[in-house]
Amino acid sequence: MGSGYGEFPGARPRRLRVGPAMRRMVAETRLHPAELILPMFVREGVSEPVPISAMPGVVQHSRDTLRKAAAEAAEAGVGGLMLFGVPEDAKKDAVGTPGTDPDGILQVAIRDVISEVGDAIVVMSDLCLDEHTDHGHCGVLDAAGRVDNDATLLRYAEMARVQADAGAHVVGPSGMMDGQVRVIREALDGAGYQDVSILAYTAKYASAFYGPFREAVGSSLQGDRKTYQQDPANLRESMRELALDLAEGADMVMVKPAMPYLDVLAKVAESVDVPVAAYQISGEYSMIEAAAANGWIDRDRAIMETLTGIRRAGANMILTYWATEVARRLG
Ligand code: PBG
Repeated sequence: MGSGYGEFPGARPRRLRVGPAMRRMVAETRLHPAELILPMFVREGVSEPVPISAMPGVVQHSRDTLRKAAAEAAEAGVGGLMLFGVPEDAKKDAVGTPGTDPDGILQVAIRDVISEVGDAIVVMSDLCLDEHTDHGHCGVLDAAGRVDNDATLLRYAEMARVQADAGAHVVGPSGMMDGQVRVIREALDGAGYQDVSILAYTAKYASAFYGPFREAVGSSLQGDRKTYQQDPANLRESMRELALDLAEGADMVMVKPAMPYLDVLAKVAESVDVPVAAYQISGEYSMIEAAAANGWIDRDRAIMETLTGIRRAGANMILTYWATEVARRLG
């Protein structure tokens, strides 16, 4: 009988930790490559990958290297890819036109990746305006410079259609606009894309840990996203966002960032009957890489420990920049 029933005084839990074989057998949480999702950046107009200095080991891909890296991920057994497009600066504007241009870099990249590995891996696309706007916000602005929720929804509907036209299997609305899942579902269904699913960024917090991502997508953002992303102080609010996303038709839900929000993840995971994803974001990646580069922590163990913890807290899928590396290690 387990503890709580008055185990006899000589009980020795250490017996189940004696060696690797025993520990492996009794492990309660396992990682599998299929549960890992690799976020990838593709930059318009470059012929070589561009390193992201704040994320050592991660690059802004050229179209060519994106295809190669996508094929490598699929080969390693990674479950999915999440694509982010980085348009040329000159093409960004106030309404994020590259995000709805059928020849915008994200749509081009989706088509490239689908033709390369589309049968072997789930291809997902970021559905948000921030990579495409010159002001860097996730939506369009009103006359007073505030993010205009409902005007943004019209742009998201259009983005959903062009991403589905390009072949995306899953769209990932990450802008935290109210009603975004409903509008996207309607737009997809209206265009005949009943089979394209929505991975809703349900509980997405206004986090300092997105810092390195700003460089990754060449963001032009001034200020912050606190009027649309959630306050780190709140948990109950996430349950409200969750109820809304499910009612609006989310097929899968996400908590983001991962490590500072494991309580949110655990609560979401125990409340739903859809798959739950967690996003180990740029800052979580960079902290470990930086500490490891300084010799302060064991990099590989730290990576596996964080992923195991996120999985243990209840994530079915984990978005992580280490997806291919870890899938190989697990394979
Ligand atoms: C918005 C978006 C962001 C991330 C994913 N989608 C940036 C933000 O909300 O500020 C961050 C991912 C990361 O930090 O790794 N399109």
